[in-house]
Amino acid sequence: MIIKNGNTFHLVGKSISYIMTVGRCGDLLHYYFGKKMANKDYSDRIMDKEYGLLTCVDDYCFLETLPYEYPAYGYADLRDPAYIVGNLDGNTVSRLIYKDYAIVENEVTHIDGMPYIFAGKQKPDTLKITLADDIIGLEVVLSYTVFEEYDVILRSAEIINRTEGDMNIESAYSASIDFDKGCYDLVYFPGAWTREREFTRTEIKLGEKIDISNARGGSGHAMNPFVMLCGKDATERNGDVYGFSLIYSGNHSSVAECDQYGNVRVRQGINPFGFDWILESGESFYTPQCVLCYSADGFGGISREMHDLYRNNLCKSKWAGIDRPILINNWEGTYFDFTEEKLLNIAKAAKPLGIEMFVLDDGWFGKRDNDRCSLGDWFVNEKKLPSGIKGLAEKMNAEGLKFGLWFEPEMVNPDSELYRVHPDWAISVPDRVPAKGRHQYMLDLANDEVCDYVIKSVADILREANVEYVKWDYNRMMTDMPCKGYNHRYTLGLYKVMEALIAEFPDVLFEGCASGGGRFDPGMLAYSPQIWTSDNSDAVSRLKIQYSTSVCYPMSTISAHVTASPNHQVGRVTSLKTRADVACAGVFGYELDITKLPEEELEEIKEQIKFVNKIRTLTRTGDLYRLQSPYEGNYCSWQVVSKDKSEVLLFACRILSPANSKEANIYLDGLEPAADYIDTETNEVWGGDELMYKGITPVYENCDFATIVKLFKRV
Ligand code: DGJ
Repeated sequence: MIIKNGNTFHLVGKSISYIMTVGRCGDLLHYYFGKKMANKDYSDRIMDKEYGLLTCVDDYCFLETLPYEYPAYGYADLRDPAYIVGNLDGNTVSRLIYKDYAIVENEVTHIDGMPYIFAGKQKPDTLKITLADDIIGLEVVLSYTVFEEYDVILRSAEIINRTEGDMNIESAYSASIDFDKGCYDLVYFPGAWTREREFTRTEIKLGEKIDISNARGGSGHAMNPFVMLCGKDATERNGDVYGFSLIYSGNHSSVAECDQYGNVRVRQGINPFGFDWILESGESFYTPQCVLCYSADGFGGISREMHDLYRNNLCKSKWAGIDRPILINNWEGTYFDFTEEKLLNIAKAAKPLGIEMFVLDDGWFGKRDNDRCSLGDWFVNEKKLPSGIKGLAEKMNAEGLKFGLWFEPEMVNPDSELYRVHPDWAISVPDRVPAKGRHQYMLDLANDEVCDYVIKSVADILREANVEYVKWDYNRMMTDMPCKGYNHRYTLGLYKVMEALIAEFPDVLFEGCASGGGRFDPGMLAYSPQIWTSDNSDAVSRLKIQYSTSVCYPMSTISAHVTASPNHQVGRVTSLKTRADVACAGVFGYELDITKLPEEELEEIKEQIKFVNKIRTLTRTGDLYRLQSPYEGNYCSWQVVSKDKSEVLLFACRILSPANSKEANIYLDGLEPAADYIDTETNEVWGGDELMYKGITPVYENCDFATIVKLFKRV
């Protein structure tokens, strides 16, 4: 619901309020974001006494602490701005004044050419506020969407050039919020290849600016476009937390800045570093959507809100709402060294275990036997696969398996037929040999002709063969950008390619990937309902990676495979049980050569798959509660509760085995206190209250990396 009361705009969500007012001098000011408040006109609240330093409202020198909704730099506010626009006079001074508003019921702002949250079955209302700086001919339309069912606000901005000439956008954030003076922490998710998204919490000190940005081309392993602002006392289960998630896959920036008086401004949007956009007369520039989320129930509360939103309103694929097939991928099983026979042998062994799909990874095209050649040449390597992809897919189908295929369509190897014909299609600058990453260049998706080639090369295969799943990989970061703002142009090209393929192949399940989780962002999730979370498939490493990924992203997006032991990335030996139990926290699959496993392990896999079949709807649709953090000690546990609270899955892991020690209780959450729950394995019956308030004492096997998985049902 959106209420206009006097000069107050009040957005009311499930249990939140977001309140803005038009100030006495026409500035659009932020008043409040948090627990639901009453419908009132709050416009006179932002006055001299509230913002201490205002000696006189007309004396703009002292307006620097006002809480602006879309702040500019250089007029009165001296903090970092939400936008910078160069005007015809050669300066960047600007001030936006409120002009107009419109409320659109049952609608979300559709951002053309970019992924966005759609209305779905929910009830969104959108407020569009037009601000203008008439002196420089700038208009900005701020868009705010609120849902009856969620505690989120969607924000984006449209910047319009109302002059006769060009305008230069140097930066355009999607959202900015000024929080009142207080003691805040920032939680963010930095990382690296095989160490993605480490849960990191830091105090925001007076005068400090914390810049959570990435300029690596894709959203990146190094920094995820999701941050949280919270009070000092916020925990997993309690406390005020604000989430900021950007629906974007290119260079991004989230900045928390504490001013000299202790107010904190948080902005999120496209990274201004290396950005520049010439806006011609009458043209608009659209920022990506930013999701703002509030919860009084700690980080867990934010997760459950974000999960519902991203499960229901982000990805249009039919697969977003369906259980995903249990697959076997050949990458860690064979790497490049495979023949049709070898693949079929894996498939033959997989089917009786209950596996539903075979995925052929890298190495099936051109003359690719290693990672030095052939990207761009999307025709089958007949030496390895004499029946072609069509024939192989048919043979897989005859074995009773669906068939999926790997592509890395955004790339080209210098040693490829494509590059020999089209060296100009690689991203490059004049007179400089582009930098290689994994022996490859990136294709110039800012060029429509290249996008068409990419679409055609994938589509030709999907048209010809029964490929029901595509793993879309991306294995290097962007260099040699030909101009400022190139990264955004590329990102728009990528979205155009994805849109075209999804439209033509609505039944294909797309899985995102970027050397593991190097582009795990809501932008890619709009096209692929699941993403390969990390190239680190070690169960113990995955405890942390999956735990922190789940803070923003639902389990239904987190691909998790059982791989060989010793693990190929870290050399760790873990039991098959531990590997499978850990993989239950995501979209479950296998990635090892099962033809080499002993009979007992194959029997164990059969049982694992039976169990996954029982829980996969629950993990895809239920509410996640993280119970013990692997970032804080020797344990990791989490729990999923079905929406009707009738089913509960509990996972717990003790990382290292201590001698002569007593286990701490695990306190479940989100159950019906008065209901009884039966442990489906032991038939023990527990009260919901008991499981939550008294907790259960886990009994682990006496070994390192011991795991427990329990499925409870309400009696
Ligand atoms: C990186 C991916 O993350 C892996 O899963 C695998 O597909 C390789 N690329 C193949 O080159």
